[in-house]
Amino acid sequence: MIKEPIILAIESSCDDTGAAIMKGKKVLSNIIASQKIHEQYGGVVPELASRSHQQNIIPVVHQAITAAGIAKEQIDAVAFTKGPGLLGSLLVGSSFAKSFSMALNKPLIEINHMEAHILAHFIEDGSPSPEFPFICLTVSGGHTQLVKVSAPNDFFILGETIDDAAGEAFDKISKIMGLPYPGGPILDKMAREGNPNKFTFAHPKAGELNFSFSGLKTSVLYFLKKEVEKNPNFIEENKIDLAASVQKTIIDILMGQLKKAAQQENISHIAIAGGVSANSGLRNAITSQQNWKTYIPAFQFCTDNAAMIGIAAYFKYIHQDFSNLSTKASARWEIGK
Ligand code: KG4
Ligand code: ZN
Repeated sequence: MIKEPIILAIESSCDDTGAAIMKGKKVLSNIIASQKIHEQYGGVVPELASRSHQQNIIPVVHQAITAAGIAKEQIDAVAFTKGPGLLGSLLVGSSFAKSFSMALNKPLIEINHMEAHILAHFIEDGSPSPEFPFICLTVSGGHTQLVKVSAPNDFFILGETIDDAAGEAFDKISKIMGLPYPGGPILDKMAREGNPNKFTFAHPKAGELNFSFSGLKTSVLYFLKKEVEKNPNFIEENKIDLAASVQKTIIDILMGQLKKAAQQENISHIAIAGGVSANSGLRNAITSQQNWKTYIPAFQFCTDNAAMIGIAAYFKYIHQDFSNLSTKASARWEIGK
């Protein structure tokens, strides 16, 4: 049997600087420095994100190596997020990974961030991994996709958002309600106490297996404007029910298309991935489907992290699928291409 590779994985696609050490499919360490600086701006400021990655990357990698209890000479390969994401952020991780792989004289592995979100299901953490083929609903701050996964390197996009991503819808509507950034997890918490049927919002249709969320955001905006004119305290007095109703609408849109995809492809193995897969309402909606075998990632592997880059790199390592130093960060890089 070949030795299980030790891989250093780096994630820097948005506003989290991550480094992980994997041994085979197991996580030895998984360190994340989340950037608080963006909160005061109500969203990620790309230039600030890039500067923070520069400050964080060396301490985060150092911490990952130390926490894993290995020496850097034991690393068999260096993996990094090539894209998609913010170019300035990606450049920090990719430049660091290239230099480190050159210094160690070890292979370099480039990873697609969205494929990594899906492959996080294969991290050996005691939970069962999906059987192929399965459908993954990948829902994050930048993407909303329905992907048919036939192998660790075989992805086919069945549908995706034509405007905002699901996480973006959570965050933008939270902002309209006056909640801090990122609003998704806060709205989720509030929604647990509220009545999801109190308010009804638009369910924009995008056709086929695609999604649309910008109409929902506009529908909430105009509804709140009208109500606040009549009662300036409307949002404060109804925030729990508003959160529950908005969350229910987003989940209904996601579940409607996911059910359609499962039926169309005749696949009953269903997974969710990405930051929004941490949402309690979505997790309940998925697992309550009796005719599906469902896969829900552990919380720490839902939102951006480097362990997911490490597991994706493991599959490339065993096929000796390495990159050379001429590889470049790519802000737009479609899954499966
Ligand atoms: O995957 P991720 O960490 O970063 C991207 O690649 O975008 O996803 C971040 C997104 C944000 O929009 C955040 O609000 C959302 O995931 N999110 C949630 C929850 N936790 C994170 N949305 C709803 N409910 C949650 N519990
Ligand atoms: Zn992500």
